[in-house]
Amino acid sequence: MSSKHSEKNLPWVEKYRPTTLEEVYGQQDVVDTVKKFVHEGKLPHLLFYGPPGTGKTSTIIALAREIYGPNYRNMVLELNASDDRGIDVVRNQIKDFASTMQIFSKGFKLIILDEADAMTGPAQDSLRRTIEKYTKNTRFCILANYAHKIKPALLSRCTRFRFHPIPEQAIQERVKNVIIKENLKLNEEAEASLLKLSGGDMRRALNVLQACKAALETEDDEIDTKMIYECVGAPDPKDVETVLDSILKDDWTTAYKTLNTFKVIKGLALIDLISGFIEILNKFELKSRSRIEILKGLSDIEYGISKGGNDKIQSSAIIGVIKQAMENEA
Ligand SMILES: Nc1ncnc2c1ncn2[C@@H]1O[C@H](COP(=O)(O)OP(=O)(O)OP(=O)(O)O)[C@@H](O)[C@H]1O
Ligand SMILES: [Mg+2]
Repeated sequence: MSSKHSEKNLPWVEKYRPTTLEEVYGQQDVVDTVKKFVHEGKLPHLLFYGPPGTGKTSTIIALAREIYGPNYRNMVLELNASDDRGIDVVRNQIKDFASTMQIFSKGFKLIILDEADAMTGPAQDSLRRTIEKYTKNTRFCILANYAHKIKPALLSRCTRFRFHPIPEQAIQERVKNVIIKENLKLNEEAEASLLKLSGGDMRRALNVLQACKAALETEDDEIDTKMIYECVGAPDPKDVETVLDSILKDDWTTAYKTLNTFKVIKGLALIDLISGFIEILNKFELKSRSRIEILKGLSDIEYGISKGGNDKIQSSAIIGVIKQAMENEA
């Protein structure tokens, strides 16, 4: 397989993974600080935490490239801390890796531990001891989604960096580059929906865009809002609005029919409808009592659905909650 061919088949999240720290978008504070560490030659153990798709793995890999150059792989060990073969396997890999280094290198090696928040308490203790043991010639970078799932004793040995959801503007900049490189046509509304639905997750933005391209009938077609929603698997806001409108204005039976029709024909899930309703209702001017009533009612129903509650009953309950709260408004 030629390299050109393999690049073509690469998922875009890999194809467009940042290779330098400059290409990490929307995490300026983190990037500036870790760069400073490197240039001062004082890299501490690191903890990167934050939501998925915000650049934790990308940043540490780009940093490794910056430190070691293109052959960084020899100096970096990437492990999944939640490896289900257990912490002993992880520990042995670290031991092998850390102890081979003195032979040919003076600098430190880098060990990246992904999904550290999935580790059990005892595994974290064991990791803490391992880190202490090899601190002389290795640096650890722990990656996690939630810092509160990491034990304080481990936390206190790392310099912590929070990766926040990537600002829409930064996602937009990155996406614009991809649109040009991939020769895509995206209208303005579709781009705005893409940014909104990404929710600060660059991985999602790229995956949705790639799925949309795959769904195009001919390469010249334009990607529109509807396609974006379909590729995300989120309901089209226009559909959500129609259903809500019917609940607000029509009698019970008609509202129930509308909701059901959209559920069946458009494949809308109740749970998505609830999020959509809340988003729209948040923009309404309501008495705070009604607002609280709606939010409380809908969140109870959402919980019921997640516990496997009967769909028909939950559908009626949604209509009931909204209609009743609106009666207070009148
Ligand atoms: N800040 C960013 N700048 C540019 N691209 C990014 C950024 N964050 C994520 N990406 C893109 O999304 C993909 C996934 O990012 P990455 O693996 O770094 O996320 P992560 O924060 O480690 O997520 P997870 O918590 O799921 O491991 C990357 O390959 C890259 O293409
Ligand atoms: Mg990651």
